[in-house]
Amino acid sequence: MASQIAPRDRLIVALDLPGVGEAEAMIDRLGDSVSFYKIGYQLAFAGGLALVPKLAAGGKKVFVDLKLHDIGNTVARGVESIAKSGATFLTVHAYPQTMKAAVEGRTGSALRILAVTVLTSYDEADLSAAGYRLGVSELVEMRARQAQSLGVDGLVCSAEEAAALRRVVGHQLALVTPGIRPAGAATGDQKRVMTPARAIAAGSDYLVVGRPVVGAPDPKAAAEAIHAEIAEALGQ
Ligand code: C5P
Repeated sequence: MASQIAPRDRLIVALDLPGVGEAEAMIDRLGDSVSFYKIGYQLAFAGGLALVPKLAAGGKKVFVDLKLHDIGNTVARGVESIAKSGATFLTVHAYPQTMKAAVEGRTGSALRILAVTVLTSYDEADLSAAGYRLGVSELVEMRARQAQSLGVDGLVCSAEEAAALRRVVGHQLALVTPGIRPAGAATGDQKRVMTPARAIAAGSDYLVVGRPVVGAPDPKAAAEAIHAEIAEALGQ
């Protein structure tokens, strides 16, 4: 449940960096100010998955953002391996077979599965070109319901979708939200951004922040400023 999440675990810093050396230097710089990291394609395919057990042994949580999708057996066995690495969150695409297999693969471990409903880079025309008949919001809602009924632990969603998804899935599933920009930060290629405070108010449980922290002149100060904003939004 959302209220049980330690406030300082709500900030997930995306280690979108080219190599393990850069990532380790950033983790050292951030020190105690960050307890939760995300490792995505860029770092994972540059040897970064080796950081997962190291970070876990050091008391940090790790979100492995690999957005898996394959036949059920392959997904389940892959998820088992990631569970053994000590990761806390893993993303899969929100296809019923894939979600079912991922939930099976994480059984008995501390790993939690997050489903990506519809990629935020997709609009109605992209879905139609890919052969879908439903629009974005209908497909997001349908997949959120399927995720919940299959035992998935959370959803990745934009802060704009968070309030609507809360009405669909209640408080059982964690909502994990990228596209966060503290007031005054550059938006980069993110089109729909929200401040940390507004995202928390919209119902997000965890905020994924990359460039505004790892690209800041003082990453530690940037992370602490986000913690302060989250704590204020939570009334703590
Ligand atoms: O640097 P920035 O804060 O934009 O990084 C956001 C992180 O969240 C990136 O790692 C990106 O891949 C991820 N993400 C996203 N939008 C999604 C899903 C994941 O920005 N819909």
